[in-house]
Amino acid sequence: MFKEYFKYYKSRKPPPSLKDVMDFEDIPKWYLSFKVKEISGSLGVSDRLNNGLKDPNTWKIYELIDHPGLIFIENPFTALGQRYWTVRCLRDFPFPPNKTNLKEKFDLKVYDQLELKLRWTTLGYHHNWDTKVYSEDDKSEFPEDLAGLSEIIAKKLGYNKFKPEAAIVNYYYFNSTLSGHTDHSEQNLEAPLFSFSFGQSAIFLIGTESFDDKPTPILLRSGDIVIMTKTSHLSYHGVPKILEDKGYPKWGDVDSTEDFDDYNNVLGTCFDGNLWMPYEKFLRNSRINMNVRQVLNDTQQSLSPG
Ligand code: OGA
Ligand code: MN
Repeated sequence: MFKEYFKYYKSRKPPPSLKDVMDFEDIPKWYLSFKVKEISGSLGVSDRLNNGLKDPNTWKIYELIDHPGLIFIENPFTALGQRYWTVRCLRDFPFPPNKTNLKEKFDLKVYDQLELKLRWTTLGYHHNWDTKVYSEDDKSEFPEDLAGLSEIIAKKLGYNKFKPEAAIVNYYYFNSTLSGHTDHSEQNLEAPLFSFSFGQSAIFLIGTESFDDKPTPILLRSGDIVIMTKTSHLSYHGVPKILEDKGYPKWGDVDSTEDFDDYNNVLGTCFDGNLWMPYEKFLRNSRINMNVRQVLNDTQQSLSPG
């Protein structure tokens, strides 16, 4: 079933109908399939929001009835937050000590080249694309700002002990897909998995633990967060299609008075029209997905060798 749905939504000729694709900006149409997640955790005064997020009291959080544990947060980012993470994903993350699919050196200013070639970057415990096994010998420091962002979202959902230890940043173009898979490499399968989207939209297919079950198509827009908790951590999922977002860009109007801890010197680029331009151009033709995981169990300090 997953396969057939993937093929249907991937098709270019004819393009798929979007009428069954869940759109969280159109809740009245879908309300029977939604359940509002009860917030079990809350943020304290020390949990400063300095990572481009709006006031957590305004976030719209949903859990899917048909996919228990699949949580959706409708874009909680400010426009500046969207720009900040875009710059991090393009200017900083695709460089050592992180790993990318690129063998050759590339010039960040040459976006046409980047668009074609940059597919992924890995941070923290590096995802091994062949063996799917993490190793203590193949890890680098996890970026503090991305850890902070993930921990804030985790706390809001009641996962107070979540530790971000590995991430894949995926870069998609209009003809890119990510085929159906489960993420089972982590030792800790109880921990939630966080997926942040920026740029163009995607059809995200979320299934069950069986490839034979029917998946649900969801429209993901810039800023949306999907969190795979509980059984949904081991559910099949994939991205059959990238779609143009015809709405006003969510990274459009930045607020220069926003409170932001800019340890990485990103804001100068976000506020300067000329410096921001290549990133804007990239976002108009691509989608960026930051996929953050905890690898170790709560009691584990490191992976055992071998
Ligand atoms: C992944 C993944 C989903 C997405 O990187 O494992 O499932 O929305 N990404 O890009
Ligand atoms: Mn995945």
